[in-house]
Amino acid sequence: MFNRRPMGKYHIQVCTCTPCWLRDSDSILKTVCDVTNCTVGSNSADNLFSISEVECLGACANAPMMQVNDDYYEDLTPEITTSIIKGLMKGERPPPGPQNCNRYAAEPITGLTSLTSEVPDRSFRVRPDL
Ligand code: FES
Repeated sequence: MFNRRPMGKYHIQVCTCTPCWLRDSDSILKTVCDVTNCTVGSNSADNLFSISEVECLGACANAPMMQVNDDYYEDLTPEITTSIIKGLMKGERPPPGPQNCNRYAAEPITGLTSLTSEVPDRSFRVRPDL
């Protein structure tokens, strides 16, 4: 919770706990390190990135995942992870959440098996001012 060293602009926390590890979080962590040219526990030379390896961040259903500052990026692949980091390098904020376009939140990736009625309003989100 407390950082005992100066952090980069983007603190990338890659979950490597069991569910994420089973979904190849090792390749996500390697991708993050390779693209940012940074190692776990350190900052990139330009202080844009700090990388941490963390335990479960509570998004196991959408593993593997990483947190960038306050945003969760889920359903990651090395290609998607690279794209997110390159977006951050350009000053963009890639859309957070599940990166698999077939998934809205944490429902099964193969489709709903229960509560299959249509959701009337999918616009609910956390208030933007939070
Ligand atoms: S194990 Fe990675 S979010 Fe839970």
